[in-house]
Amino acid sequence: MNKTLVTDLKQGMMLAESIFAQNGSILVAEGTALAGSIIKHLQEMGRRYVYIYDENTIEADPGEVLVSRVLATAQNKIHSYLPYELYPESDTGVRARYERLNKSLAEIIGDPKVSDFLLDLRTIDESTLEHSINVCIFSLLIGAGLDLPDNLMAYLGTGALVHDVGKILLPPEVRGDLSNLSEKEQQAYQEHTNAGYRLLREKGFEAPVAKVALYHHERWDGGGYPTKLAGEKIDLLSRIVNIADVYDSLTGPLAATRYLPHEAIEYLYGAGDMYFDARIVRAFIYNVAIYPLGSVVKLSTGEVGIVVNVAKNISSRPIVKICYDKNNQKLKYYHQMDLYQEKTVFITKVLL
Ligand SMILES: [Fe+2]
Repeated sequence: MNKTLVTDLKQGMMLAESIFAQNGSILVAEGTALAGSIIKHLQEMGRRYVYIYDENTIEADPGEVLVSRVLATAQNKIHSYLPYELYPESDTGVRARYERLNKSLAEIIGDPKVSDFLLDLRTIDESTLEHSINVCIFSLLIGAGLDLPDNLMAYLGTGALVHDVGKILLPPEVRGDLSNLSEKEQQAYQEHTNAGYRLLREKGFEAPVAKVALYHHERWDGGGYPTKLAGEKIDLLSRIVNIADVYDSLTGPLAATRYLPHEAIEYLYGAGDMYFDARIVRAFIYNVAIYPLGSVVKLSTGEVGIVVNVAKNISSRPIVKICYDKNNQKLKYYHQMDLYQEKTVFITKVLL
């Protein structure tokens, strides 16, 4: 926008900032195209300058920009974790699921109640917004695998996206690195569940959504928080988000010991029926391609390759196109290795 002298105003220019009367009421609103009578009035008021939209600048609404960036990120992730073109039923089942999830995502992220929180999630710390998007994607993929109806899918995706929103009310010392918290600080941290529930209810979110914030740290054996509910007493949506949350935390940048995707799956599988609902762990394993297509991975043989294919139900053992040998020399002819067949070879590192 341009700061423009009132004497230089011309009819049709568009006001970029509202003009207020002395009592605080809006005299001429932002976005108004200036008519001759308004310009004359401004001159009579003794006003010296106003702000005018410059036709060479495009002003963006920060809320809208964030919504479209979050949506694009989320849709990219869905495409990576549900590579529908590879599965045998690509013409029907998986493609329909992919389209359904994309539509749900647009509705969830575009909901003004949700988009109001996106900036808050971004400011909690460097990774909370990214983590929230991942948890939303994994939860929706599990929910679709369990054939949840549309209304539950909407609650699930929304609850997953805002599950940690209570953290905005935490004191700064219990945000970010949680590895060395005192007992008192841990209790303060755990309050983000109750705080999230209250905040979401105050903002008009439905109870099933707010419950996800409340119960996403409960554990199947009753050892979680804040209420120590166990088994099916923990609502289904919170059990799903809990598994998505633990998986992303184990494999994410803030993990004390960062797990490889298949190691995190082994942990979930091993702890299933103790810490987690084993049925949901299975739904995760069957419905999320944990090594997205295009991941660059290093193998235990020392070779480096790209994940080019993934078989349904065994996504922790993808097919890798080997591009570099164990001496880091680029191969003239690439070849494929199916890790499901080559049982002694495993992924040791995700490079990209
Ligand atoms: Fe949390």
